[in-house]
Amino acid sequence: MIETPARRTGLLSRRRQVVVGLALTAAVAVPSTAAAQSVAMSVDASRPGAKIDRNLFGQFAEHLGHGIYEGVWVGLDSKIPNTRGIRNDVVAALKALKVPNVRWPGGCFADEYHWRKGIGPSRPVTLNPNWGGVTESNAFGTHEFMDFLGQIGAEAFLSVNLGSGTPQEAAEWLEYLTTAEPTALAKERAANGHPSPYKVLYLGIGNESWDCGGNMTPDYYSSQLKIYSRFVRNFNPAQQKDPHRMLKIAVGPGGDGPRWTEWTDAIMKAWQARQWSWDMDGLSLHNYTVVKWPPAYKSVGFGEAEYSQILKSTLEMDRLLATHSAIMDKYDPEKKIALVVDEWGAWYARLPGSKEGFLVQQNSLRDGVLAALNLNIFARHADRVRMANIAQMVNVLQAMILTDMERMVLTPTYHVFRMYVPFQDATFVPVAFEAGSYTHGGSTLPRLDAIAARDAAGKLWLAVTNLDPNRPLTLEANLTGLTPKSAGGETLTAPRVDSINSFEAPSTVAPKPVAAKVRGATLALTLEPKSVTVISVE
Ligand code: AHR
Repeated sequence: MIETPARRTGLLSRRRQVVVGLALTAAVAVPSTAAAQSVAMSVDASRPGAKIDRNLFGQFAEHLGHGIYEGVWVGLDSKIPNTRGIRNDVVAALKALKVPNVRWPGGCFADEYHWRKGIGPSRPVTLNPNWGGVTESNAFGTHEFMDFLGQIGAEAFLSVNLGSGTPQEAAEWLEYLTTAEPTALAKERAANGHPSPYKVLYLGIGNESWDCGGNMTPDYYSSQLKIYSRFVRNFNPAQQKDPHRMLKIAVGPGGDGPRWTEWTDAIMKAWQARQWSWDMDGLSLHNYTVVKWPPAYKSVGFGEAEYSQILKSTLEMDRLLATHSAIMDKYDPEKKIALVVDEWGAWYARLPGSKEGFLVQQNSLRDGVLAALNLNIFARHADRVRMANIAQMVNVLQAMILTDMERMVLTPTYHVFRMYVPFQDATFVPVAFEAGSYTHGGSTLPRLDAIAARDAAGKLWLAVTNLDPNRPLTLEANLTGLTPKSAGGETLTAPRVDSINSFEAPSTVAPKPVAAKVRGATLALTLEPKSVTVISVE
């Protein structure tokens, strides 16, 4: 895959001392001492904000390395316990995350995927030129993907092939999947084991069409978008009206700088001038935390310098979202079009000994912290950012789960996603606090980050991250609009910034219970260094 440095989050952009929705800033470097400093926070539960869409916790699964094959699909004859070829341990782990949607089959792979090769009893072996040039058995195709979604309880987010396919091929895929009429394609679907129409809730129209998806200009892509949007229809009778209508997501920007602001501007301008015959519901944005390209940072075996540099870099997501949201506001002040961050996460150097193109990396405590920071940023942009997909679900880049044949381990990122489940579809609640700062080498970051939300039952949830790897922090949170009786939850930390869970030691980075002291309207809670904590208030 060809890369331009501009499209990845870098270290070069303007200095940001602090975060946060309503956070107060403190630009003063705090002396390095292990004593817990007390930080005051106010949480105003009487001023609800936007809904934190559950789709912000989406996953991305590409035919890449062991992301699908071995990670999800082991086949009917495998000794690894499976249900119709899909491994049971991975399904059980993902069910606990309440995964809202899975983006599939790519990525760059999607623009070379021809769906017909992945249906029926006899599947041709093809190639996967993007990712290692390996063969693709096509054993995991449309029916297997939909079966997998059914097993984990997630919705389909299909990326159709706009790069090397045709509108007709994509249109027929959707007819095959969704029509209830007795067409030839519906009969073929029934013959392949699924008489009733499938539900497809999200449709990605191309992937990175400015790069691996065909190196298109914004104008050329806009013309393609109109054609695909018009002709790739969902025929499922249950999906003809909101809220079940299939949402169409256009290719959006790939980072920072004029190339990407021009792309967003062009697509949004085309949308504003749209005719009755086409529409879109989302604009995608891809942004990896990589610092330099090609990826050189180690995913394990690093120290505080790399910890602080990577986390500083990941916080650039906030400015990126603000930049592209502002352009979208010009053309869509009512925020009808969602900004969909359908590829995000840390991208490090591949693990020594792993195959080139398989994007195998470890997942450390740093990645758990990184995930929390990004989820917090998405929540603060929830009025515009309504969907996101971490790259990628199993065995690839910043994965939830790593497997080695029959063995499986849950990563620190997995634990953060599990701890954040209560934020799915909860209502954002503003928090204000003195973030303070943490400095290491040339990197200064906010020391504290936090979000709050109320779930459907009215319960208040607080997620707080102490980025400082050396100093604990005591939080004194004052609540308005709610009288607390008790508060507690879980905290995730580990001995080192690069601690990982291995197959031999799977619980080095695992959440443990934590309780807050309640005094009147105030909660007091000590946050361990380099920790992510989620508590609920009763
Ligand atoms: O996630 C890996 C790759 O990164 C995807 O295939 C592509 O869309 C992006 O460049």
